[in-house]
Amino acid sequence: MNAYLAVETSCDETAAAVVADGRRVLSDVVLSQIEVHQQFGGVVPEVAARQHLETVNGVIEQALNESGLAPKELAGIAFTAGPGLIGTLLTGASAAKAYSWAFDLPLIAVDHLLAHVCANYIDSDLEPPFIALLVSGGHTQIIHFSSYSQGQIIGQTIDDASGEAYDKVARLLGLGYPGGPAIDQLAQSGNPKAFAFPEGSVAGYDFSFSGLKTSVLRTVEKLSAPLPQEDLAASFQEAVTKVLVKKTLAACKEFNAPRIVLAGGVAANKTLRRKFAELSPVPVYSPALSVCTDNAAMVAAAAHFCGKPAQLSEGVYSRQRIRR
Ligand code: KG4
Ligand code: ZN
Repeated sequence: MNAYLAVETSCDETAAAVVADGRRVLSDVVLSQIEVHQQFGGVVPEVAARQHLETVNGVIEQALNESGLAPKELAGIAFTAGPGLIGTLLTGASAAKAYSWAFDLPLIAVDHLLAHVCANYIDSDLEPPFIALLVSGGHTQIIHFSSYSQGQIIGQTIDDASGEAYDKVARLLGLGYPGGPAIDQLAQSGNPKAFAFPEGSVAGYDFSFSGLKTSVLRTVEKLSAPLPQEDLAASFQEAVTKVLVKKTLAACKEFNAPRIVLAGGVAANKTLRRKFAELSPVPVYSPALSVCTDNAAMVAAAAHFCGKPAQLSEGVYSRQRIRR
């Protein structure tokens, strides 16, 4: 057995997990900070870093205890090196380094986006090659994976990420943070054809969601209260999912990929999953909801399938995501 203990602190979830052979979850602890940030309408980076600092050791200890493994049975300690908020990443990286030193285990630095894709290996038989649609709060990319760790980005957003568009539109509709799940829920009882929002015409496999967001804003400004929230949510969701599905299927065809993989928080979206299930000519994999939004099990899976030991001086990348 090859089991990794992983730590994830890229944004507002303090998470630790132990996963065996990249597929079998032995423990998976996620401590969300959402309640702390809700009062600000989005994640405040410094507050997030302080929260991680207070909770990360307890979360790691819990994940280790629940796994039933002794430290010497682990193959290594993995951590999210980036992209993410610089202060929160440093907290997780420091904790992981301390545990790797104390337990005398290799330290594996993991890319957060690759980890989201690797969430699909958990409890599944997935193997490369495949086309991945990565849709998170900070990124929207189409990636061609020819092997576990070789991914070529063939398209991405030129402005807002899809999750970011969800969160901004949710705020417009007075739904709070994070907006994706709330819009998804409302959209299920709305009319997706009530408003004709633009899907954004960008060439090739790239995306643009800022025009869509502005179009929702202009529409809301012209409406009087109470807002038809369900119809607005359903029409917005229709525009976002339509373009995501269309471009992913086109990429799958061009690259002759035998399967499609959905990854990142927006991959939890019901309409997106339904559309892929209806329209894709090849099998579509999506992570279990428990490992779809930020978690550490996916980081452990990435360490198993793609990891190589990190240098202790491994840097972290920064991503500013201030939502005020
Ligand atoms: O991957 P993730 O947990 O964190 C990042 O790495 O950014 O993604 C969070 C994003 C948020 O923007 C959230 O609103 C969105 O995923 N999200 C959803 C749904 N669940 C979470 N968007 C649409 N539909 C959902 N059901
Ligand atoms: Zn994420």
